[in-house]
Amino acid sequence: MGLDGLQRAPWEAEGAAKRQVVREIFAAIAPRYDLMNSLMSLARHRRWREEAVRRLRLRGGETVLDLCCGTGDFMAPLLRAVGPRGRVVGADFCPPMLQRARNKGFGHLAVGDACRLPFRDGSFQAATVGWGLRNVADLRAALTEVARVLAPGGRFVSVDTAPAKGALGRWVSGFAFRRVVPLVGALFGYGREYAYLPESTERFLSPEQLAEEFRIAGFEDVWIVRRMLGHVAMVGGTRR
Ligand SMILES: C[S@@+](CC[C@H](N)C(=O)[O-])C[C@H]1O[C@@H](n2cnc3c(N)ncnc32)[C@H](O)[C@@H]1O
Repeated sequence: MGLDGLQRAPWEAEGAAKRQVVREIFAAIAPRYDLMNSLMSLARHRRWREEAVRRLRLRGGETVLDLCCGTGDFMAPLLRAVGPRGRVVGADFCPPMLQRARNKGFGHLAVGDACRLPFRDGSFQAATVGWGLRNVADLRAALTEVARVLAPGGRFVSVDTAPAKGALGRWVSGFAFRRVVPLVGALFGYGREYAYLPESTERFLSPEQLAEEFRIAGFEDVWIVRRMLGHVAMVGGTRR
């Protein structure tokens, strides 16, 4: 189909159309994804990942799933946390993004859709998803799948962009996020793809609503932490 062939803007797509559009967006930006992440987060994205991993309280030897793993940037701090006896498996439905992860030396990678994971029940003790849940075509199906593949007591954290809080946050959001991000994207030839990021963030659930979806999917002790004036939110919980 291609982004140009869409009837609606990419951030308005739903269901199967969203699945296809999202896959095409990430296939297109895969070569520049890491660079753009560093530019847009002012090089802070690694710190947020490390904090999210610390909050999972991983133990040596545990098996962890990194859902929507993309180029694998969540996998490095996860591997450090579980140590040489542990295992970190990355899953994503976009082969060009997975290829970047493979080029970085990550070995346990699976092509798979978050809404129908290719893993047995209770396979993992923990799971992460970075900037992923906003993109899946069926959020409830994805959260139910994460709960299914986690063992009881398994910990899960999502890190994603969120609508900013407060007057300053909203100003930064209006300027930096809605204008600068698509502009920087356009400089690299990905104007439409990077317009998707602020638009999809505004349309996605608030962290509080996402926390409620976690509970519905079978997570308890659900928590929320915000960073960068609320522009980044971590939502975590423990599988009942
Ligand atoms: C913004 S990137 C995040 C990549 C990585 N998690 C990170 O922290 O940098 C979103 C990733 O989610 C993947 N994705 C989106 N929807 C998916 C789905 N339904 N199933 C599997 N992967 C999906 C995309 O292919 C893309 O690699």
